[in-house]
Amino acid sequence: MLVIEQAAHAHPWSRNLLADSFGERYFTGSLWQTVPITTTQESTEQLVGYFIADCVLDESTLMNICVAPKWQGQGLGRLLMKHYLQQCTLRGINQCWLEVRASNIAAQALYAACGYQENGRRRHYYQTHSGSEDAVLMALTLSN
Ligand SMILES: CC(C)(COP(=O)(O)OP(=O)(O)OC[C@H]1O[C@@H](n2cnc3c(N)ncnc32)[C@H](O)[C@@H]1OP(=O)(O)O)[C@@H](O)C(=O)NCCC(=O)NCCS
Repeated sequence: MLVIEQAAHAHPWSRNLLADSFGERYFTGSLWQTVPITTTQESTEQLVGYFIADCVLDESTLMNICVAPKWQGQGLGRLLMKHYLQQCTLRGINQCWLEVRASNIAAQALYAACGYQENGRRRHYYQTHSGSEDAVLMALTLSN
């Protein structure tokens, strides 16, 4: 996860933050691909994407979703979102939230394609390499 996190995100989570995401109030999902081992005739399973979310009563916040750069643009982000929202439904969650950097147009387009709507902004919420940028708040109500 850490390798993908550092390759895909401009502002990656630390190893400790990723490790903490396996605590009780969180749930995660992962996507794996079968890839050939170049030195043998065999193949192996390789992690290509994941999501991390929390769950408090009937609400969930998607905290991180990531597809390894090599695998992006092939529908895997959408597949991870589908899996996340299915998990939410199974857990009886009604309200889904997330925050995304204003500059992260790809992620915002993915969330909008999954039914999320912008619901507000937090000014200068995220640090950037040259200052700060807004967080866009997005929400999705599930009809369970
Ligand atoms: C955001 C992310 C998870 C999308 O994963 P992906 O596998 O590339 O996305 P998909 O191929 O499933 O695309 C699904 C939709 O996302 C949107 N999208 C994906 N890449 C996009 C891009 N570069 N520009 C604009 N929209 C994009 C589109 O709406 C797309 O639907 P379409 O193919 O019908 O146009 C991926 O870009 C990523 O890991 N980014 C780095 C980590 C990150 O920013 N995570 C989100 C914040 S925590």
